[in-house]
Amino acid sequence: MDFFHYRDGQLFCEEVRVADIARREGTPCYIYSHKALETHFKAYDEAFAGFDHLVCYSVKACSNLSVVSLFASLGGGCDVVSGGELFRALRAGVSAEKIVFSGVGKTRDEINAALDAGILMFNVESSQELDFINQLAAEKSKIAPVSLRINPDVDPQTHPYISTGLSTNKFGIPISRAVSLYQRAAGLSHVRVVGVDCHIGSQLTQVNPFRDAMKRVKLLVQELRRLKLDIHYLDIGGGLGIRYEDEKPPMPSEYARAVLDEVKDLGCVLIMEPGRSLVGNAGIMVSKVLYTKEGETKKFVIVDAGMNDLVRPSLYHAYQKIVPIREDVDGGDNAQTVDVVGPICESGDFLAQNRLLPPCKPGDLLAVMSAGAYGFTMASNYNSRPRVPEIMVMGDQYSLIRRRETFDDLVAGEKMIDWAASPGGK
Ligand code: LLP
Repeated sequence: MDFFHYRDGQLFCEEVRVADIARREGTPCYIYSHKALETHFKAYDEAFAGFDHLVCYSVKACSNLSVVSLFASLGGGCDVVSGGELFRALRAGVSAEKIVFSGVGKTRDEINAALDAGILMFNVESSQELDFINQLAAEKSKIAPVSLRINPDVDPQTHPYISTGLSTNKFGIPISRAVSLYQRAAGLSHVRVVGVDCHIGSQLTQVNPFRDAMKRVKLLVQELRRLKLDIHYLDIGGGLGIRYEDEKPPMPSEYARAVLDEVKDLGCVLIMEPGRSLVGNAGIMVSKVLYTKEGETKKFVIVDAGMNDLVRPSLYHAYQKIVPIREDVDGGDNAQTVDVVGPICESGDFLAQNRLLPPCKPGDLLAVMSAGAYGFTMASNYNSRPRVPEIMVMGDQYSLIRRRETFDDLVAGEKMIDWAASPGGK
């Protein structure tokens, strides 16, 4: 996290003091470092340099238009999983020929929108979906490019909610059934088989599960080619982990080496779908201490950000590092074990539990680190809390890339029935 650092006892994002942003834009807020995003993207791109490849940023990790368009400007494409993400990617200027569409539940409208846009390929997750895409493409007299998402039954050794490549997960097509479904796909009139896709999970901190998956996928590609199928693209998915606490995830270069070791001889165009590893450590969430209080058995630091703003700790018991915006000058001597909790009416509303933090008082600012991925995108309006702003820092400047929602935004889509005038009303 070199792009977030202390200088003269104050936390900076690049050349901007985080406290200055918080003062002007209020808290809570998300802050992203442009330089970090760019550096992470380039590291990926360079890791696969020399091999025909396309980095398709997984939009779900952080879908702000400025983030997506930054990666597009660096040559990236997108991995989308909904009509909304497809809309965002196109709005951000990503060319349709660089968009892949994944997900187990694509609807008619979503498939039609992707056909109209002319995306690179659909990553198909079931036999019924394949038929549906064929039918919708036929209605438009188009040919839909498809790959099948293979479930290789490999344990990614990550949190069960974010592992996707096990036979017990809902994702993909069991590798044992892949050949027969590919053969059926080849016989359909309005789809064209163009590749193979595989994504086994998220926040992987070792290369071996990737290797194991690639070994299996390689055998499949070879078998499909024997059957005269043209497997042009190999989509290796995303999933590379980041450091939240003391993990030591592989660098993109090590990850690339492991993948390339297995599949470089296939001569496929490699597509990758990184999300977290591009944006996770490029963002923080800043929150203000409202109160502190001592319970019978615990000390609580109550902050103005809740599980609706950042749900990862509540949902996965995920560790997110929390640091004071003013550097702890005591070097931890006065640290206290506290729960950092939000204002939401749920006991599961916490950002950290049993965490050693320097003493906090109302008004202090805290930064939740590594919040760039699955932070803002998983935020909700629960407890009727407006969603918080997103800010992009570029050198010594920053830009508000999403304004704070207003109370009017909260009810903008709602309609209030006139009970007095309605038939059942009084
Ligand atoms: N491709 C597909 C098909 C995916 O399902 C995902 C993530 C990715 C790519 C990107 O994976 P990444 O490089 O970010 O690991 N909300 C969870 C993470 C859910 C990941 C879902 N799929 C979290 O906060 O940890």
